[in-house]
Amino acid sequence: MRRPVIAGNWKMHKEFSEVVSYATRFAKAISDVRDSDIIICPPFIYLRTLVEAFKDTPVSVGAQMMYWEDKGAYTGEISGPMLKSTGVEYVIIGHSERRQYFGETDDTVNLRIKAALRNHIIPILCVGETLEQRENSETFDVIDRQLLQGLDSLEAASAESIIVAYEPVWAIGTGKTATPEIAQEVHERIRHVLSSMFGSHTAEEIRILYGGSVKPDNVDELMRQKDIDGALVGGASLDPESFERIVRYKE
Ligand code: 13P
Repeated sequence: MRRPVIAGNWKMHKEFSEVVSYATRFAKAISDVRDSDIIICPPFIYLRTLVEAFKDTPVSVGAQMMYWEDKGAYTGEISGPMLKSTGVEYVIIGHSERRQYFGETDDTVNLRIKAALRNHIIPILCVGETLEQRENSETFDVIDRQLLQGLDSLEAASAESIIVAYEPVWAIGTGKTATPEIAQEVHERIRHVLSSMFGSHTAEEIRILYGGSVKPDNVDELMRQKDIDGALVGGASLDPESFERIVRYKE
């Protein structure tokens, strides 16, 4: 049985004064939740504040990015050892916004995934097709390539701990959620590719999240799908009440 994961990606939102009040309200609201992993991924500068605010609560903290070198003259970058020493447990890698606006490629994704695992941080690898790719029937080709290259030369033992997030680019921030059937179809494909790479045992262990306009009113149906093990939530994670409702999805 795979343990569900509900993760919030705050992207580039919130100012410092909002962060602690969010954490206090949210931690209180979900203090009894025991059956899912709950993760919040704020901008770098709020990581330590949230690690402290969520100490002794069910909430873990993740980063939205990391560099692949451990240290050195790389102005502006943040490394795995830095994140680990701050109490960060997860890191999003290869988000489509990084791929679209900041030149992220499958090769740099692969370097970051390996650096995260080397530093005992669980990577959340994002994959997903654009609208154009879907309309050209390239969805599976794109997903296959992103997985094969992004997870290239990983050992099955370390692959077991990673999380994959299927985030169709056309569903992000648009209010257009993939139907549960579309999402399930791609999740099944992802598990199939993972099985060909790492064996069926490992593929059955890897959690696969859906992301793209997940809201309180569509999370239940998405979570009922066989291969959907959780959600990666953008906009709806910014409000503690709507994120609480998502964490308390009903199967
Ligand atoms: P939205 O939930 O705002 O569509 O964002 C999804 C996402 O990109 C999470 O990483």
